[in-house]
Amino acid sequence: MTTGRLIDLHCHLLPGVDDGAGDTLEALALARAAADDGIGFAMLTPHIHPGRYHHDIHMLTAVFRQFSSAVRRTGIPLRLGLAAEVRLTDELPAQIRNRQVPYLGRWDGERVLLLELPHSHIPPGTEALLRWLRRGGVRPMIAHPERNRDILRKLEKIDPLLEAGCLLQVTAGSLCGRFGERAERRARQLLKRGAVTVLATDAHHPVRRPPLLEEGRVVAEKLVGAEQARLLVYDNPAKILSYGQARARPAAPARFPGRPHPVPA
Ligand SMILES: [Fe+2]
Repeated sequence: MTTGRLIDLHCHLLPGVDDGAGDTLEALALARAAADDGIGFAMLTPHIHPGRYHHDIHMLTAVFRQFSSAVRRTGIPLRLGLAAEVRLTDELPAQIRNRQVPYLGRWDGERVLLLELPHSHIPPGTEALLRWLRRGGVRPMIAHPERNRDILRKLEKIDPLLEAGCLLQVTAGSLCGRFGERAERRARQLLKRGAVTVLATDAHHPVRRPPLLEEGRVVAEKLVGAEQARLLVYDNPAKILSYGQARARPAAPARFPGRPHPVPA
């Protein structure tokens, strides 16, 4: 990655695979907008969500290679990696055992999984599943917890997730009010508590959900200072990436003892 440029660990630029970029032209527009925003590296994280997005990792890898070539050919100064935003369902243990999910990188030796909870609530059994993941050497990073309705209703609902060791990815647009006042308030509260590991764009569309990270960094700087803000958009993402990410192939954790409790979708 380019030193000094921002790192985005969550976006839906990969064309034609989920509710993000619809085709290569739109994906290139998003990539250009990301580079214009100061982003030097973007981890592409298409949804993996059984029942909705049935993506085979080999198919995603093939699309990723084509899109990476297109970005290089057009000269957009944006480096890319491939991971996924994996939905929490009762199929997750099997997906992990079968090496069907890619990781963002590592955090203190554990593989980092970008994990999406249902927007409506935190399902019963989630804590047990999180502990099972940790025992197997996987560190969940919860995608945009500030938009989860249980956490919107009660901030303390985040505590069991933090106690289980989860990292948190807050969406930059939430901090800037793009997802409403309540999500903005939660994002700011989580930031001030020091609970947030990274800010990311979760970009889906050039207009409706653009790849803007710098505006989030600016708000974060006002709330927690320049040094902490830099941690969220550069140092912490770089730490996660520094353990040899950008491999398109997924890798399974070394071992998974026991069984988690079933988690309803
Ligand atoms: Fe996402």
